[in-house]
Amino acid sequence: MAGAVTLALAALPGVVASPALAANAAAKRGERVIEEWCRDCHVRDGSPQTPDMAPPFAAIVAVPGRDRDWFEDFLEADHFPMTTFRLFEHEKADVVEWLLDLQRKRP
Ligand code: HEC
Repeated sequence: MAGAVTLALAALPGVVASPALAANAAAKRGERVIEEWCRDCHVRDGSPQTPDMAPPFAAIVAVPGRDRDWFEDFLEADHFPMTTFRLFEHEKADVVEWLLDLQRKRP
C-alpha cells in the first residue's frame, strides 16, 4: 500500500529529503480529498459542463493569478454554495498541493 510506505519513509528523517517528493505525496492525498468532497459539484476535467455543475479544476487553475496564496485564501473562506465545506487544515494543505500539481501539468 503506497500510503503506508510513504508514511514509513516520512518517519525517517533524511530519507525523504526531496521537497518535490513530499509535495507529490501531498498532492496524492489531496486527490483523495477532492474525490471525496468536491466531485459532487465539480465536473471532471474534460467532462461536459452542465448548468447545475461547478467548473472543472483544470479551468479553475488556468485563471491567471491563481497561485499558492490564492488557493490557500480560497480554502480559508466560506463560498456559496459550498457552505458545508469544512476541511481539516492538513486536508486543505493537500488540496492546495493537488491544485498546484494540476496547474504545473497544464499543456
Ligand atoms: C455544493 C457544491 C460544491 C462543492 C461540494 C464544491 N464546490 Fe467548489 N464551486 C462550486 C461552484 C458552484 C463554484 C462556481 C461558483 C463560484 O465561482 O462561486 C465553485 C468554485 C470553486 C472554485 C473557484 C472559484 C473561482 O472564483 O473561480 C474553487 C477553487 C473551488 N470551487 C474549490 C472547491 C474544492 C477544493 C472543493 C472540495 C473540497 C469544492 N470546491 C467543492 C460548488 C461546489
